[in-house]
Amino acid sequence: MSEEKRVTFGSKLGVLMATVGSAVGLGNIWRFPYMLGENGGAAFLLVYIICILILGLPVMITEFFIGRHTHRNTAGAFKAVAPGTKWSLIGYNGVLAAFLILGFYSVIAGWTLEYLLQSASSSMSGKPVEVFTSEFNIFSSGIIRPIGWTIAFIAVTHIIIVSGVEKGIERASKIMMPLLFLILFVLCIRSLTLPNADKGLMFLFNPDFGKITSSVALSAMGQAFFSLSIGMGCLITYASYFNKKTNLQTTALQVTLLDTLVALLAAVMIFPAVFSFGIAPTAGPELVFITLPNVFAQLPLANLWSFIFFTLLALAALTSTISLHEVATAYMHEEFSFSRAKAASLVSAGVLILGIISSLSFGLLKEYTVFGLTFFELLDYVTAKIMLPLGGMMICIFVGLRVDRKILKAELTNRGTVPFYFFNTYAFFMKYVAPVLIGLVFLNELGLLKMIRRLIV
Ligand code: TRP
Repeated sequence: MSEEKRVTFGSKLGVLMATVGSAVGLGNIWRFPYMLGENGGAAFLLVYIICILILGLPVMITEFFIGRHTHRNTAGAFKAVAPGTKWSLIGYNGVLAAFLILGFYSVIAGWTLEYLLQSASSSMSGKPVEVFTSEFNIFSSGIIRPIGWTIAFIAVTHIIIVSGVEKGIERASKIMMPLLFLILFVLCIRSLTLPNADKGLMFLFNPDFGKITSSVALSAMGQAFFSLSIGMGCLITYASYFNKKTNLQTTALQVTLLDTLVALLAAVMIFPAVFSFGIAPTAGPELVFITLPNVFAQLPLANLWSFIFFTLLALAALTSTISLHEVATAYMHEEFSFSRAKAASLVSAGVLILGIISSLSFGLLKEYTVFGLTFFELLDYVTAKIMLPLGGMMICIFVGLRVDRKILKAELTNRGTVPFYFFNTYAFFMKYVAPVLIGLVFLNELGLLKMIRRLIV
């Protein structure tokens, strides 16, 4: 595809906001707290931050490099750099991951719409904790309502995708990201001033190193990839819309910082409240949905807060679903020459089927499990814990092996016009540290490290 024909993001702020919009979403506010709760709190947080710094940042910069260097969609980018090789499998892994993630993500995104509507219609203040919990269970295990909301969410994503990159993605992100920060901040303060808030803070910030197991490490690594939108070429696709002046390094740094900040704010908003209301931190996917209504109920104008919060959460989810949808749509559009509308329709139809089955796996299909995981959990596990880290590892190996260092440096410094002080450190982490560490976490989780150790000793 020629460069002239390709759209680009309109402004510097637009680039940053659209990319932050992709990164910040349910991953930060819904998935991060529940992963943290299930994996022992502070120990998980520590491993998570390490993963962000030594895996997340290098992989993100590398994805930016591939995307802007080739100006192609995820699958096409690998074909452009290494034509006729098996490297394009990384791209297909990414496109498939986009489909699968959207399949379960849109269910939770749908839940935010239900809560948005409920805050507008029924009074929240004065309700005890148990009522919020049972209301959630009745809703999520139902059929019509959760599926209806899932479909609605996919439909809105579809419409924005069809109306184009710049108008849709950029405009939405620019307005809602700053608002989201503001409301998270206010809710943190409310949560911190609840009785027993200190127990939540202890859980969050006082690590018990004995709790760091291979499965905690895998969960933290998966969460880091999921939250930063890396490992499947989402940011390759976004960077393909960057212009030649975009500073790739600072953009990566800013996106990573903002994403991590939102996740931390979400944790500080949730955990003091979890302990204050006596909710189990290990509650799983429903954690945020049963904790937050209790926080709102403690505020004057409870319904208004709830309404604003779930509106922002829905919008944050939307800028993320847009980025996921865009990966698959750009691939179909550019590689098969379907019109954008047709490509988007095919993607939406596929996601709809996955979404409906995922939604039913909270109720009707709950008993149907594979390896003890429901359909929803399976999609989440396979993408976040396998496809994304594996994709990230392959992306690093690919650039490490196939791309000349000079070309890499020229692209990352905008042809020498911006400095990259830590280029050698970055290159070392990208080429050696990240692939080896990701490989070790996999081997460890599969129990293979133990076997190797036994063979050697
Ligand atoms: N990062 C987003 C979130 O935290 C979800 C997301 C968008 C994503 N695009 C992605 C996850 C690409 C993995 C890969 O909610």
